[in-house]
Amino acid sequence: KFEGLLTAPPMGWNSWNKFQCDINEDMIREMADAMVATGLRDAGYQYIVIDDCWHGERDSLGFIQAHPERFPSGMKALADYVHAQGLKIGIYSDAGNTTCAGYPGSRGYEYQDALTYASWGIDYLKYDWCDTEGLSGVGAYTTMSEALKAAGRPIVFSLCDWGQNEPWTWAKEVGHLWRTTGDIYNCWDCEHSHGDWSSWGILKILDMHREFEIREYQGPGHFNDPDMLQVGNGMSVNEDRAHFAIWAMLSAPLMAGNDIRNMSPETHAILTNGEVIAVNQDPLAIQGFRYAAEGQLETWFKPLSEGRWAVMFLNRGDEDLPLKFDWQAHKVVDEVFDREADFATQTYNLRNVWTHKDAGNTKKALKGSVPARDVLMFVLDPK
Ligand code: DGJ
Repeated sequence: KFEGLLTAPPMGWNSWNKFQCDINEDMIREMADAMVATGLRDAGYQYIVIDDCWHGERDSLGFIQAHPERFPSGMKALADYVHAQGLKIGIYSDAGNTTCAGYPGSRGYEYQDALTYASWGIDYLKYDWCDTEGLSGVGAYTTMSEALKAAGRPIVFSLCDWGQNEPWTWAKEVGHLWRTTGDIYNCWDCEHSHGDWSSWGILKILDMHREFEIREYQGPGHFNDPDMLQVGNGMSVNEDRAHFAIWAMLSAPLMAGNDIRNMSPETHAILTNGEVIAVNQDPLAIQGFRYAAEGQLETWFKPLSEGRWAVMFLNRGDEDLPLKFDWQAHKVVDEVFDREADFATQTYNLRNVWTHKDAGNTKKALKGSVPARDVLMFVLDPK
């Protein structure tokens, strides 16, 4: 894979969660415009990724074409437009014969497709896992990774095998991010059935993410990916805030999945919260961990650079919960990354990253209330 392309988790927008196959070149251009106009680009969102359903047929020489009705001007023109807005462009394919939506996959055409993407100016490839019977995950993803490298253009490689081949154990050398779960759905804790497959609410995805098993495999340039964001796609503001906070605590990719041309002020405020984004983008890229769970209330910690920590109190339940956290009684140890916060010997200043207010220090117990399906989140600074 191309090293050094990404250090922090990728940030961008992807067409799938909101639009599925209802995509075309005009709307992708509008998304690029909206990235700039809404300030998302300046907040760090960089990649516009076109998911499934952009493919047309292969031509007589095997070269893949864009869908003639949805993308009549072709992908090169679209890439030029997106680049002119100061953004990068991503595309989607599949390791099997067909994509999940039934369009041509890249199996047997990996080098040709990689060359085509490079010639269009593509910067990011998401590579799905439908219709791959009999293929080895390591083999198929390594082939495309090598094809991209041979094509010569730096392209971020996003593996999407839903965790089926345990990519965290091998994909660090192959790609930049890898899905760990099935698909996310815009609900707090539901399973949504699509007939022969399901997608999953925020808490289900969080619990399927295998945090302790996989966190050791994440670091700058290689990320566990619990799927794209559903912020602004219909959940409550509290749920959206908690969803975004969890993704920040995990240093997960932040790929917005809503209609960014048309956002409520609340959605906009969540997606552009610079202090929360800074937790996500911290250069250590360490995935946070569940430190304590008591009933519906969980306490998560995440080591940050410069000896700082982020802490998130997550209320999974439907009732507001009182919170009392007596720092002095806690010592937080991250054995995997060899970090420790001993509040008895070190005082930290607290900063509430959602309200942008200083919140005292760790000498005094923290008291408050965590609203239902929401979080309180702070950065702890030893200075
Ligand atoms: C399955 C993936 O997990 C989704 O994110 C999306 O890319 C769809 N396939 C597209 O068919």
